[in-house]
Amino acid sequence: MGFSNEWNDRYASQTHLSIWPWSDLVSYVMRYARPRGEGFKVLEVGCGAGANIPFFKTLGVEYYAIDGSEVIIHKLKENFPELSERLAVGDFTKHIPFSEEFDLIVDRSSITHNSTESIQECLSMLHSKLKTNGKLIGIDWFSTKHSDYSKGTTIIDEYTRAGYSEGQFAHVGRVHFSDKKHLMELFRNFEVQILEHKEISRELPVDFHIFASWNVVIEKKDHKE
Ligand SMILES: C[S@@+](CC[C@H](N)C(=O)[O-])C[C@H]1O[C@@H](n2cnc3c(N)ncnc32)[C@H](O)[C@@H]1O
Repeated sequence: MGFSNEWNDRYASQTHLSIWPWSDLVSYVMRYARPRGEGFKVLEVGCGAGANIPFFKTLGVEYYAIDGSEVIIHKLKENFPELSERLAVGDFTKHIPFSEEFDLIVDRSSITHNSTESIQECLSMLHSKLKTNGKLIGIDWFSTKHSDYSKGTTIIDEYTRAGYSEGQFAHVGRVHFSDKKHLMELFRNFEVQILEHKEISRELPVDFHIFASWNVVIEKKDHKE
């Protein structure tokens, strides 16, 4: 149970096409993992429509990315032909098709669209793809305090839902929600350096909607795993 094919349909129907860099991702990279020196290698898992690519190009890093959607990777290769060899279609919970070791791995709301078991497998693989002292920055991993946590119609495991037909999770397949205990368990092979929780409560219109998510910075250490 890995990549949800619904993402390919979403991109084919021209939705979810975010193309501006995510502000939290920019802030976290610059604050906690500012690229230094030549040959700094960055892997983005679940790059989607490539919102973060211009940011990494500006930084002059060696950027690689993987996404499960053929439609979106095809489009990115057209838009960024110079990155063609470094953009791959694939399920990042099963295989990372690059032989490089990375200084930094970034994820904005992508790993959190998988089941608990797939996330465990993914983190174990990403651990092996990071250099020692390399970091993984995760932005917007959905929280169990998100008001949509209780709304999915299909329960895959305690933390994973699917079957949304409205709201931000409509028709995107699996959505994973985490609490602190669960995250600490998922990250047990890493050193957790930053764990921050964000909550935005909508006041108007009155629909009691709460967006809640986690931002994390975790590091691969020699002594773990
Ligand atoms: C919410 S979008 C985020 C896209 C991008 N990171 C952004 O912030 O604009 C989630 C992305 O993760 C990808 N994705 C989710 N699970 C995946 C998996 N197991 N393997 C590969 N891609 C996956 C989807 O195809 C989608 O492009």
